[in-house]
Formats: sequence, structure tokens, C-alpha cells
Amino acid sequence: MEQTQIDRILESNNIVDVISSYFPLKKSGSNYKARCPFHDEKTPSFVVSEKKQIFKCFGCGVAGNAITFVRDYEKISFLEAVKKLAARVGITIAEIKTFQKDESKRDLIYKIYALTSKFFQDNLQKYGTVAKEHLQKRGFSTNIIEKFEIGYSLDSYAGLKNFLIKNNINNKILEKTGLFSKKDNEIYDIFRNRLMFPIHSIIGKVVAFGGRILQDDQPGGKYINSPTTDIYTKGNELYGLFLTRYEISKKDFVLISEGYIDFLRLYENGFTNSVASLGTSLTDAQISIVSRYTQNFYLVYDGDAAGRKAATRAASNVIQKGFNARIITLPETEDPGSFLKNYNKEEFQTRIDEAKTIPTFLLDDESMNLNKREKINLLVEVLNEMEDPISRELFVKEIADAFTISEQSIYSKIRTRSFQAPNHKQTISIPKFEEERDLLKIILNEKSYYKKVAKEIESDYFLSKIYRNIYEKISEHIENISQISGLLEITEDEIEKNTIAEILMEDIPNISYEEIIKAIKLRKYRKDLQAINEQIVNNSQNKELFLKKAELKKKIIGLGKQVVRKTLY
Ligand code: CTP
Ligand code: MN
Repeated sequence: MEQTQIDRILESNNIVDVISSYFPLKKSGSNYKARCPFHDEKTPSFVVSEKKQIFKCFGCGVAGNAITFVRDYEKISFLEAVKKLAARVGITIAEIKTFQKDESKRDLIYKIYALTSKFFQDNLQKYGTVAKEHLQKRGFSTNIIEKFEIGYSLDSYAGLKNFLIKNNINNKILEKTGLFSKKDNEIYDIFRNRLMFPIHSIIGKVVAFGGRILQDDQPGGKYINSPTTDIYTKGNELYGLFLTRYEISKKDFVLISEGYIDFLRLYENGFTNSVASLGTSLTDAQISIVSRYTQNFYLVYDGDAAGRKAATRAASNVIQKGFNARIITLPETEDPGSFLKNYNKEEFQTRIDEAKTIPTFLLDDESMNLNKREKINLLVEVLNEMEDPISRELFVKEIADAFTISEQSIYSKIRTRSFQAPNHKQTISIPKFEEERDLLKIILNEKSYYKKVAKEIESDYFLSKIYRNIYEKISEHIENISQISGLLEITEDEIEKNTIAEILMEDIPNISYEEIIKAIKLRKYRKDLQAINEQIVNNSQNKELFLKKAELKKKIIGLGKQVVRKTLY
């Protein structure tokens, strides 16, 4: 769908009227408020801005414009929502000519996944005797099976294929769904004779599957997982989150396990503030998604050496992002699922209460076969990757306390660079990238500033990955956008979309864009300078490096004289 057509539809549908046709909105200052329709809440945190034509829930994070509201509220496709809103204001469908292929293709794949998930669930009831037995033997209730839409894939190479073809889905698109493989020009079902766990996006649409074998001697891995497709990026989703995010924010901590079964067992035992990361490594994207609901991460992985290593790695990744991590220890032979079965929930609660920080966890650990020195080295490696100076200092304290060594000796082991003991002269620290956010705020709100900014700031000046991505997408699309709310359509990424909405809802900073540009440039040059200084240490004969250094210094001095607001960095 062309951006101009989306713009026209957004332009003629006032978001306040659109949402009011579903439930009442209450005026609150210049905005409107209501209880969020996408999560369960008592006090309203769902805000609609008439001026910007967007909505944003400050409780659960969802955000969007009139089109995505109708899409998500009615659980229909993007295209259907567009048509609905077009009809609402008398734009005839015939006028909507060129549908962007990608959008309709994604819609179709969503539809196929919804159909497929229904099909698997039906199969479980009709043909899943062994699968049901498996679930029963493991003690899963009907409630859990229904809530998480667990199903069964037939013991056939064409069960799903035939079903979808009967439902008028053509062969060509089936190849793009990740549900089939191809041999001799013929596609066949990937998931056969398996227990099927659908993976839902944050708004509850099925976007992928995990399939578990029923018999130990069945061919293929114990689990088969959907590949990346147009609607699913591996490592960007968390199993269960669509149902647990509100509990996570309410309890203000999250239990992260590795597996489907672990998660379901936790959920069934009342530990509903849980998610599963699906596989061993907790990705940056997953951490950033969960951090919208809580900053307190509890890792609960297998009790064996492999599980403990994975937990250490995941917890390290969490604290490197500036959040809090604790590791729940289990007996060597248990995973969270089996622990809850073989022990009970009270004992699990005790394990939560006794969860350890990374240093204490490592200090106490005997199964990973590390001596004290190796443990400290591992922790220093974690420190080396930490950006936020405050988190770093707190972590140094934790290590010193746990291992009863001095903080100074830890600081002396950290790679020199900007990592120095706090009583040394400190280099700049940039924990929150406020100025990058301010810059985006200004150009998102006033398109005409973008051109001026673009002349001065390249995307690699942005240190924050997410702000950099948004800046790049703005450059790509800004020419075609006339409505502010259309900005939410420049990215498919949920986090980027929500960040844009959040930024749009904030007040415009009381600072000129020139000042921000200077601050960002200055910071970038200083960072480059630091990198060159490091290179020079190993490369002291290289003339070019010195030339570069001189050049950068000149730039910095030039800028330094002009900068007004020192607090920016
Ligand atoms: N996993 C996977 N592929 C495999 C094995 C595991 O993707 N071949 C992922 C799955 O997400 C799985 C998680 O890693 O849920 C943990 O694996 P494992 O402990 O082997 O499975 P459980 O979830 O404990 O399942 P079960 O209790 O049924 O063995
Ligand atoms: Mn397991």
C-alpha cells in the first residue's frame, strides 16, 4: 500500500472518533484517556493524542495510529483495517489501487498461521490420542492446553498442505510460510506427528511454532522450530509474553526459562510472571522487550553445568544492558519443569527468594569446574562489556564483596580504556543517550528540521542502536510522509514503533536543534579519538593515526567553544 494512500486514510479518520466508536474516551489535558483495551488494568494508562493522531499505553507499551488500532482491536489484518477506515469516510475501495505487495503478503502469512494453529488444535482433539496422553502424563490441565493453544501435527507429509489448499491458499505463498520443505519440486509438511506449541507475537497473533516429538525414537530433533519468515524473526519473540506481560509489570520481576515445558509448568503453578527464551541464549532484542515491563530479571535454567553456563551468560547480558539479574539455582538433575513436578511450588518460591547475583552464583558454583581466579576473570570480562558507569561500579562492589577482594584490584584488571576507578579522572559517560532522543523528538515533530539535521549528522553518530535504526528509517521514508501518525508505519519492528510513539508523546525539549547537533558531534568525535588513542598504543609508528588524531582534536576544540548546554553529555 502506498504511503500516500495510508496518509489519506489517516488524514480523514480522526483517531479520537475512531477509538470512541469502540469505547468511551475521557478528556485529560490536551489528550484523551481510557483503560487499555490490550491489557487488564484498573487505572487508565491508555493515552490518545488528537494532535498527533496516535495512541500509546504507558502500562503495556502498545502504540499505534488509527489503522493499527482497528487492526489490533478487531484482530483483523492491516489491509482489512485500511478498508474499514476507508469505508468509514467514504473513500471507495476502487480508489485504493496499488497495495504494497509486502503488506498483503504479510497479512496472508498471518492468516495462514491463524488457520494452521486452529487446524493443529482440532487435530489434537480428533487424532491426538498419543499427544493428549503425553500432555496428561506430564500433568498439563485442559485450561493450559487451551490458553496456550497447544495442538498436534498429523503423522503425514501432506496433512497441513492439503488443509490449507482446501482453504484456498495457493501453493506459491505456502513456500514462504516456513511450514513446508521442498523436494523434487513438491512441498511437504515440516511438522509431522509432533506436539505443537504456537509462538505468539506480543498482541497474540501466532507467528511461529515449536514442535516436540512424541516418541523418543522419532526422527528429527526433539524440537523443531519455525524458521525466520516475513512475520517472525528468531530471537525477537518470547514464548508466553502475550499473556504474561501484565503480570510481569505488576510483580515487577520476570522469571525467564529456556523451554516451552518449563514455562508452562511455571505458569500452571501460579508463577505467571514468566516467559521462555526458546533456546539457550537470551538475545539483546528479548532483553529490551522484557525491560519494557520490568528491569528485574530472574534466570531459571537447567541445574546442570550447561544450564548454569547459559544462565551466567544470559544474566551477564542483562546487567550489561543496565538491568538487574539474579540466577535461581536448581539441583544438578532438574530443570524448572521437573523441579516443580518433583518438589512443589513453595520450594520453588524459596529458590526465588534465595536467587543469587552473578558473583555469588559463580562463587558458590562447583559444577562448572572453575577455580576462583577463573571465576574472577569471567566477571572481569562481563565488566569489560558494561557501558553504564553506575551499573559497572555497583557490579565491582558485588564482586569485591562476594570474593572478599579489594575493589581497586578489580579495577586494575579491567581493560584500561574508559574503565577507571571512580577516583581517577573520569572520561565521558553516556548512559541514556538523551540527546539522541531529543534530536529524534525534534525531527519527528517537525519534518522541516530533518533536512538540516541530515546535512550534519550521519546515522553512525548515534551510539544507541535503536535510535540509530529509527534515524535511518526516517531518512528512508520522510519524503513520503505527511501525517505525523504515518511515522508509525516506517518500521515493522514493535520496539521501534513503540519508541517512536513514546517520543511523539513527550514534550519537545527546550533546546535548539543546533545545540543538540553540536553535542552529538562532540561526543562522536571524542569516541573516535578514544579509539585512535587505543590504536596508537599498539601502533606508535603509524603517522596516519597521528594525523587523524590531530584532525579530530581540531574538530573537537572548534565545537567545544560553541557548545552551550554542558549537561548534555
Ligand atoms: N530446544 C530446541 N531444540 C532442541 C532442544 C531444545 O529448540 N532440539 C529448545 C526448546 O525451546 C526447549 C528448550 O530448548 O523447550 C529446552 O530444551 P529441553 O530442556 O531439552 O526441553 P524441555 O523444554 O525441558 O522439554 P521436555 O521437558 O519436554 O524435554
Ligand atoms: Mn529441559
